[in-house]
Formats: sequence, structure tokens, C-alpha cells
Amino acid sequence: MHSNEPLEDLLSEEATAGAMARRAQAALEEGSEAAFLTELDAFRAYLAVDLESHLAHEESELFPLLEARGFAEEVAEAKRQHSDLRRMRAALASASREGRASARHLLGTVAEMLARHVRYEADFMYVDLTVVEVERFRESLDGDLQHRSLDPPAQAAVVRVLRPQHQPR
Ligand SMILES: [Fe+2]
Ligand SMILES: [Fe+2]
Repeated sequence: MHSNEPLEDLLSEEATAGAMARRAQAALEEGSEAAFLTELDAFRAYLAVDLESHLAHEESELFPLLEARGFAEEVAEAKRQHSDLRRMRAALASASREGRASARHLLGTVAEMLARHVRYEADFMYVDLTVVEVERFRESLDGDLQHRSLDPPAQAAVVRVLRPQHQPR
């Protein structure tokens, strides 16, 4: 999340996680070895880099806010799911040594866990973050207003409009 739109970034990361899970499930259902191996590599790389960065960002930036806003139980459960996902990621990373049947099973399991995790967070994360976003927006508006005062010609124009009987000279 590096843009000025943290909520949009978060939602796009959640959508990507859901899409990655669906892609892996589709590759497993399709059944071909080539599709499976391609997806296995893509999913492993996704879990190790992009998803890990998403999880770490949630843990450091978002969960503390959500906890402070009364979502402590949901955050504790989400953190538990994060550690499950990381354990499964490690298992999937070493799955080739255990044979392809095991890798298939693990890929399907991690994809399902990820899809369920995204859905779990959707129940409490966005509504509250919308409030956070709105507050940030208000703060930024307040900050702008503190640094801005009308210049004399603009003030005179306001006076003419609001108090036409008063004629400043
Ligand atoms: Fe998430
Ligand atoms: Fe998460």
C-alpha cells in the first residue's frame, strides 16, 4: 500500500487474494499436470511475496486500529488464520519432495483457507476502515483549512455578499 488511497489498495489486495485462490482451485479442477504445475509455482510465489506483504501490513497498520475500535476478537481470529496460512505456505513450499498428490492436496487446502480468510475479513474490516478513511479525510480538510485564510479582496467580496448593507471603503 503505497498510494494515497490505502482503502482502495487494501480492497484491491483482498480481491487479488480471492482471485489467486479461485485460479488455483480452477487449475486443480481442470486436472492437467501442466496447469497444476504452473499454478503451483505462481501460488507459491504469491504466498511468499505479495500475500506475505499484505498480511504483515494488516498486522502492523490495520489490526491495531481495528482492535482499538472494538474488533479485538475478530483481529485475534484473523491473526490465527494468518499463522495457519504461513504454516501452510511453508508446507506447500516443500511439497515437491513429498510427491505431487500431496502438493495437489496442499494447494487446494491453502487456496480454500485463503478464500475463507478473505471472506472472514470482509465481515468486519471494510466497514470500519471506511470510518477510518472518512476521519482521515476530515483531518486533511481541517488541516487545509487551518493553513488557509481568505485574502483581503476575497474577504471584501464575502462581506459584500453576506452583508450588502455594509460598504467597506
Ligand atoms: Fe486481508
Ligand atoms: Fe488477513
